[in-house]
Amino acid sequence: MSAVRSSHWDAVYSGKDEAKTSWFRPHLDESLRLIDALDLPRQAPVLDVGGGRSTLAEDLLARGFSDIGVMDLSAVALDETKQRLGEHAGRVHWMTGDVTEVALPAAHYALWHDRAVFHFLVDAEDRARYAAAMAHAVRPGGHAVIGTFAADGPKRCSGLPVARYDASSLAAMFASEFEPVAHSRDVHRTPSGNEQAFTYVVLRRRGDAGHA
Ligand SMILES: C[S@@+](CC[C@H](N)C(=O)[O-])C[C@H]1O[C@@H](n2cnc3c(N)ncnc32)[C@H](O)[C@@H]1O
Repeated sequence: MSAVRSSHWDAVYSGKDEAKTSWFRPHLDESLRLIDALDLPRQAPVLDVGGGRSTLAEDLLARGFSDIGVMDLSAVALDETKQRLGEHAGRVHWMTGDVTEVALPAAHYALWHDRAVFHFLVDAEDRARYAAAMAHAVRPGGHAVIGTFAADGPKRCSGLPVARYDASSLAAMFASEFEPVAHSRDVHRTPSGNEQAFTYVVLRRRGDAGHA
């Protein structure tokens, strides 16, 4: 499954310039707003799941974050992002992998971020694997910021079907290990001028905050 998925996304990224993909925006403003509100220590380990070509890593580096990981299925996307970061690319941990399969360190991340990735998991087993990976990798007291298409958002993206969520149905996917902290709705304007409604949730990993 992973090889099929990665060749789909590699082909998408090879065939389209950054600003031609529907999800492109110069900065992930809503994600940044929610992350800023958490006021995390700057050494907090952060993982951007399915980061693609987004500028989140640069924007977090500019805020002083020093331990940033970016994971994506697509080596093509990550290579382009590394090129764009130039000399700063070495300050980011890059991982090529499928979030439903990749091995991640246990109880490590203080922040898990996902914009427009989880909604591609339309199979319940994949969603369960994603939730298990997140619960495994996020430390107790750590947070997750997840943005998906809203219940009235698009039904497909990049030629693939998606699952759509309101804040409660999205938080429910992770309810066994994460409690909801905040949620928001954001309307993304695609480069071609269409509007796409997103649901964002901020979740907190249950358990003693300890060193989070
Ligand atoms: C719609 S793009 C969003 C990219 C980025 N998060 C942003 O907001 O600009 C979805 C991204 O998720 C990646 N992706 C899709 N399924 C994935 C999976 N199972 N594991 C890791 N990455 C995945 C794709 O390669 C792609 O880069």
